[in-house]
Amino acid sequence: MFWKLRRIYRCQCVRLVSACLVLSVVMVCWENSAVNHLKSYSFRFLADRFSHINKSLTITREQAQSFSNFRNLLDHPDKCAGEDVLLLVFVKTSPTNIARREAIRSTWGNETYIQRVLGVRVKVVFALGVPAMDTDAVQERLAQEDRRHADLIQQDFLDSFYNLTLKLIMQFHWMHRRCAHARFLMTTDDDVFIHMPNLVEYLQDMSRQGVTDFWVGRVYWGSPPNRSKDSKYYVPFEMYQWWSYPDYTAGGGYVVSSDVASKIYQATLTLNASLYIDDVFMGICAKAVGVSPQDHMYFSGEGKAPQHMCIYNRMMTSHGHVEDLHDLWKAATHPQVKERMSGILGRLYCTAIKIFLLCQPHHLNTYPCTAAFY
Ligand SMILES: *[C@@H]1O[C@H](CO)[C@@H](O)[C@H](O)[C@H]1NC(C)=O
Ligand SMILES: *[C@@H]1O[C@H](CO)[C@@H](O)[C@H](O)[C@H]1NC(C)=O
Ligand SMILES: *[C@@H]1O[C@H](CO)[C@@H](O)[C@H](O)[C@H]1NC(C)=O
Ligand SMILES: *[C@@H]1O[C@H](CO)[C@@H](O)[C@H](O)[C@H]1NC(C)=O
Ligand SMILES: *[C@@H]1O[C@H](CO)[C@@H](O)[C@H](O)[C@H]1NC(C)=O
Repeated sequence: MFWKLRRIYRCQCVRLVSACLVLSVVMVCWENSAVNHLKSYSFRFLADRFSHINKSLTITREQAQSFSNFRNLLDHPDKCAGEDVLLLVFVKTSPTNIARREAIRSTWGNETYIQRVLGVRVKVVFALGVPAMDTDAVQERLAQEDRRHADLIQQDFLDSFYNLTLKLIMQFHWMHRRCAHARFLMTTDDDVFIHMPNLVEYLQDMSRQGVTDFWVGRVYWGSPPNRSKDSKYYVPFEMYQWWSYPDYTAGGGYVVSSDVASKIYQATLTLNASLYIDDVFMGICAKAVGVSPQDHMYFSGEGKAPQHMCIYNRMMTSHGHVEDLHDLWKAATHPQVKERMSGILGRLYCTAIKIFLLCQPHHLNTYPCTAAFY
């Protein structure tokens, strides 16, 4: 009897060990999102880590005010007033990136074009802090630019990489005060291309379905903090002591519904925002109010999307565009794109092309291989 039990135990032990071995081999060899899912699920499985995070980052309202009570230097209180706004887009930009802002205004961020051609109101504003160098001269140029376009939102914190979380908070507070009736909020960077016609069509569809608790983008599932000091994203243990961040979407572009925007706003009123990676902080806020992100295959993470009609037909965002913004906008919104891709033959052709473009083994971090079939 005793021996039998020992045998059973040993047997189970062997099985467990071999299962673990197989699992780790799979995890090492198979470097893609499936592994990330696995990691994230194991973290979730490891119970209520995130309620500890929530508890330890909660501070008083008075303390939290230090992250949001900056003066408005440039503002447009009536930007959304009295209009049915489908989408408010915040573009994170730095004071000196004038050319990037110009390029966005004349391509995907052209509000007039969007209203005339797509028939909806989208508001595009730029989020800035205060320039670090030549402050007076740069500030004067900004004021000029703003008189012409009336689309800069600026507060008096230093515009720097390590203040991006302040910029994030500014966006949610601005929406709460000035544009709470917009149905969706998007935050993006000034080197991102947004396929506005595709995005508008998608959001109109979501709006018709009456979605709530909606947060979509390229999701990073349970990614670990970077503890190596030479990394741009280094986060010391004192700042964040857990093994993994809550799920979050790549900061290059994500969309939330207005109810989520309002909940995030509430969360920022009592959370310690010294963690300077803004998209991670967004994940922490969302976790605190019980909102989870959903992944969209055609929101890109870091990389540039391959340039092809079949991609244009579906793409939402693509990262890393500065000089080529005009050409890409022209190509991606050309009427031929939709014509060529219609019908069974067009769709078959595109699936084949997309498999070729997206399913190569060392493909950049843009759209996953599965996007080829969608
Ligand atoms: C925006 O689009 C409108 C209508 O298509 C066009 O007339 C205008 O020139 C565009 N603005 C810019 C800055 O390109
Ligand atoms: C962030 O902005 C504040 C307010 O201007 C400034 O005091 C601080 O030095 C900035 N932090 C960084 C890391 O740039
Ligand atoms: C941390 O950053 C370094 C340098 O950029 C990189 O080599 C390393 O892979 C990163 N580690 C993690 C866990 O992301
Ligand atoms: C917020 O967190 C930082 C560490 O990241 C800490 O130094 C600071 O004291 C915290 N603020 C409050 C008000 O607890
Ligand atoms: C996070 O903390 C806040 C304030 O303490 C609380 O209201 C909220 O329910 C907490 N959220 C979670 C998911 O535990």
